[in-house]
Amino acid sequence: MQHVTIEPKLISTVADVTPTVLAAMSRTSDPRLKQIMDSMVRHLHAFIIETQPTEEEFEQGLRWIAALGHHTNESNNEVVLAADVVGASTLIDLINNDGMQGETMSALLGPFYRGQAPDCARGDCIARSKTPGLALYFKGRVTGVDGKPIEDAKLDVWQASPVGLYENQDTGQDDFNLRGVFRTDANGSFHFTSVKPAGYPVPVDGPVGDLLQAQQRHPMRPAHIHFIVSAPGHKTLVTQIFSDTHDALATDVVFGAKTQIIGDFVEHTEPHGDYPDAPLPFYTCEYQFKLVEGEPSYPVPPISGKKS
Ligand code: BEZ
Ligand code: FE
Repeated sequence: MQHVTIEPKLISTVADVTPTVLAAMSRTSDPRLKQIMDSMVRHLHAFIIETQPTEEEFEQGLRWIAALGHHTNESNNEVVLAADVVGASTLIDLINNDGMQGETMSALLGPFYRGQAPDCARGDCIARSKTPGLALYFKGRVTGVDGKPIEDAKLDVWQASPVGLYENQDTGQDDFNLRGVFRTDANGSFHFTSVKPAGYPVPVDGPVGDLLQAQQRHPMRPAHIHFIVSAPGHKTLVTQIFSDTHDALATDVVFGAKTQIIGDFVEHTEPHGDYPDAPLPFYTCEYQFKLVEGEPSYPVPPISGKKS
């Protein structure tokens, strides 16, 4: 590797700092890392020059970042949550998934995807322990953007209990409650049973909660079910299907709701021949997931286990 000799220069004014730091990083061999770090340093320094933090504010900011790490463990990921509440996750999601080829719109993964959920048979109920809420029968299809069925597509599904907690946050729920993996049949069809999702608050017992409070923001997410839909030869879809009012969707604390992924959750107050055992009232929802051709990939779970 060729080393460029850089004339060492001592910093004496504000204007010296950015070029000196950029010069110190100039031998970064990975071009993408260099591009990202150069840009990060330029924007970070510009942000500091614009806001002129005091030393106390700087220390407070660093303590807040350290607290993100201290509040991150196997069942909670405060770093992901912080990225979500400042809109970074949704911005990155939209940059990488614009839906322009007719595929289903994506939505942020969130901090509560655990991976390793049990494989389920079509029609299984993902409420593994006693779970409050009204029965939900969810069915749909996975197709290409051309509408052709995708057989054996995998749907990794998870949702919060209507008590307002994911099972990893709640010792009162069985392991993997409201999580399951389903596969489509030759027609691209799948179905499963669950409970109608409810809105819930993101965790507020850590530094993200302190920030939300200081900003006078509510911590609520609109009701939704998470899906990762994947199939060979297709770009993996990470999304959420929403069932909530316009106000709840428009004020989602993590900016994840989009009109294209609002589900049609239908309330049934009378017995229905297709669901003879359904306790009244119950809900149904039908949704067609459209995948675009591409390279499949799978997100690394932000958490690995359950609160003990
Ligand atoms: C979620 O939908 O699971 C979620 C997303 C962002 C922050 C917290 C929770
Ligand atoms: Fe969620």
